[in-house]
Amino acid sequence: MRVLLTGGAGYIGAHTAVALVEAGHDVLVVDDLSNSSAEAVARVERITGATIPLLSADARDADALTAFVREHAPVDAVIHLAGLKAVGESVAEPLRYYDVNIGSSIAVLKVMAAEGIRTIVFSSSATVYGEPESLPLSEESPTGIDLANPYGKTKRMIEEILKDAAAADPHLRAVSLRYFNPVGAHDSGLIGEDPTGVPNNLMPYVARVAVGALERVGVFGDDYDTPDGTGQRDYIHVVDLAAGHVAALEHAREGYEVYNLGTGTPVSVLELIAAFERAAGKEIPREILPRRAGDIAASYCDPSKAQRELGWRATRTIDDACRDSWNWQSNNPRGYATA
Ligand code: UFG
Repeated sequence: MRVLLTGGAGYIGAHTAVALVEAGHDVLVVDDLSNSSAEAVARVERITGATIPLLSADARDADALTAFVREHAPVDAVIHLAGLKAVGESVAEPLRYYDVNIGSSIAVLKVMAAEGIRTIVFSSSATVYGEPESLPLSEESPTGIDLANPYGKTKRMIEEILKDAAAADPHLRAVSLRYFNPVGAHDSGLIGEDPTGVPNNLMPYVARVAVGALERVGVFGDDYDTPDGTGQRDYIHVVDLAAGHVAALEHAREGYEVYNLGTGTPVSVLELIAAFERAAGKEIPREILPRRAGDIAASYCDPSKAQRELGWRATRTIDDACRDSWNWQSNNPRGYATA
């Protein structure tokens, strides 16, 4: 298939581009490069040997998308990853989040309808489950529009938009992938997570402490109702996650489907830090801080639907993710800026 990958220069996008090429697909990337780097696409080309056309444009720009799609016709499918993703920022700038995330999704769907493209895979998030009523989370677990932040609400709303679009067009194949916590990097060490500024998420924060760019990791609460008192998450290796996109694309059927992409195994903050210490062969300084507002104690999934219907499951462990994250971080201490 020829696949338009929006947000293809980002962390998940670059790994998905590699997986697509390795599975025999052609990839075109559109990315506004606001929180990503053209260098990531160049490195995907280096890893795969493929040429990947890159359009530097906002995914809300339907005219630019249309021209790009026509230039590379026929495009068979879209994997729509473009969007803003910082939870705290979304609370401060809700309108920007609704505009960018929902506006780009609608533009993509309009261009698809006009150009006869009938398959879309969308990057949703485990955040749509909000505070879990019970664990593990299955696709049938309750979700709500009443979520803690605008970022999560945009993901939930876009899922509804896709569901309605698929109900109205019997030929549309639409899939939402609810990611748990993506971590790790490609084993080449050429692509990885390169957040702007001080990372919000645990793994990139730990990686920067390990490389000496930050002093110590703050552990946000050790009084949760979990085995060691720290928060538990379902950390999924980004290369497994990327393979999940290819499986979703190849198995998509007419209608709308949702899949959890996770490992099913909870890992605590302290367990992740310990795994990183083993990978890097050094101690990671940490201090216990108060809980972070809006955090939940534990989140992990039942990934069996994806295994049953897509033939996909995560095969990499937290130790694999820490090894690959450390390899990326130590080879690229300033991320793509070292290029
Ligand atoms: N944590 C720390 N210290 C840090 C950062 C995080 O202790 O410096 C802890 C958190 O309290 C939490 C765990 O590490 O227990 C994971 O936190 P992350 O920020 O890495 O990830 P979250 O689970 O909070 O959020 C992630 C994505 C969101 C998404 C959410 C959905 O970043 O985009 O999962 O589950 F919405």
